[in-house]
Amino acid sequence: MTKLNWGMIGGGNGSQIGPAHRIAAGLDGLFSFAAGALDHDADAGRAFGRSLGLAADRSYGDWREMLAGEAARADRVELVTIATPNATHYEIAKAFLQAGFHVLCEKPMTVTVAQAEDLVRTAAQAGRVCAVNYGYTGYALVRHMRAMVARGDIGRVRLVVAEFAHGHHANAADMDNPRVRWRYDPAQAGVSAQFADCGIHAMHMASFVTGQEVATLSADFASCLAGRVLEDDAMVNFRMEGGTVGRLWTSSVAIGRQHGLTLQVFGETGGLRWSQEQPNQLFYMPLGQRLQVIERGEGNLSPEADCASRVTVGHAEGMPLAFANIYRDLAETLNAAREARKPDPAKTLFPGAADGLRSIAAIHAAVVSAQNAGRWEDARPPMFR
Ligand code: NAI
Repeated sequence: MTKLNWGMIGGGNGSQIGPAHRIAAGLDGLFSFAAGALDHDADAGRAFGRSLGLAADRSYGDWREMLAGEAARADRVELVTIATPNATHYEIAKAFLQAGFHVLCEKPMTVTVAQAEDLVRTAAQAGRVCAVNYGYTGYALVRHMRAMVARGDIGRVRLVVAEFAHGHHANAADMDNPRVRWRYDPAQAGVSAQFADCGIHAMHMASFVTGQEVATLSADFASCLAGRVLEDDAMVNFRMEGGTVGRLWTSSVAIGRQHGLTLQVFGETGGLRWSQEQPNQLFYMPLGQRLQVIERGEGNLSPEADCASRVTVGHAEGMPLAFANIYRDLAETLNAAREARKPDPAKTLFPGAADGLRSIAAIHAAVVSAQNAGRWEDARPPMFR
């Protein structure tokens, strides 16, 4: 199988979402990270790209340079992820689509409706994919919820209640942090801050799960921190094309809330509830019966859930990231030895053979103890006594 060449714009050093894209694109070995224009600062972007293993001539200073460079190559990237601030998405996405690249664009896709309509048309005319990263729809149990609704497990859907509330922009003293400031600056974020940043994830998920699009809405926006032009809290009531009633709360000033993406779906014969901070469980209440907890990875879920489930039942969704830390620790140790330097002590915590030995000695001590009515045994291996 040939890997697809993949590139990124934005997602530079210290960015919020860049690492998640690189981990996700690398996970299945389907994409090869081949090019990038990763930072608004050209030199910082080039240096960061090289530190991630990009070739010097494909670690670009800006996206226009990348477009020209990649378009001229036979081994050009096929898919480009755009993970820059919102106001830049349209121009970059349009240029890459027109040049024949497929695009995965961060949300919100654009800042105006006219721009978004233009991108839909541009992608169709170019015959290229323009995907948008409502990434939380990738969770196995979100896909299972969708399958359950589609097969009628909860009957006609009457009501959806969606939330995406966090408290990370509640500190007035942090308003000038550049990573926070652009989100409330109309020139960079567009006409909306919190609803465009988080609310649309929840609203899109309501559509994804119910199979109904939002038809009408009524919103109440508030800027809770003085001096903020755009909203940091919103309550949106909506009606869906199939008649479902929708309620949505999104906030960035809800101190104590972390990520807070939750969807509840209530139908004529049952209800469903899923929260991103507890992604391995889907709560299902069939009318007149007991609450059921559906575990990600258990047998006989929908085909959609089965193929989206990457680790076995009981393992947390993020478990491969823990394994990734073991590999990173090993690489740090091997590289430090090769480069004759001291390894970073925060990156050398992998368990070693001595740990393996202690476990084996403990197993044998436990077997002997169990055979002797629980007698206390020395659990240490002989060489460490
Ligand atoms: P951030 O401020 O942490 O990072 C933005 C990165 O883009 C920085 O590295 C910056 O140097 C770079 N950049 C800015 N302008 C650039 C340009 N013209 N060319 C190349 N690089 C440029 O922002 P964050 O939080 O990573 O957000 C980026 C985008 O991702 C936003 O549209 C945001 O709405 C979206 N996002 C999506 C999430 C999701 O769950 N799908 C979660 C977080 C953010």
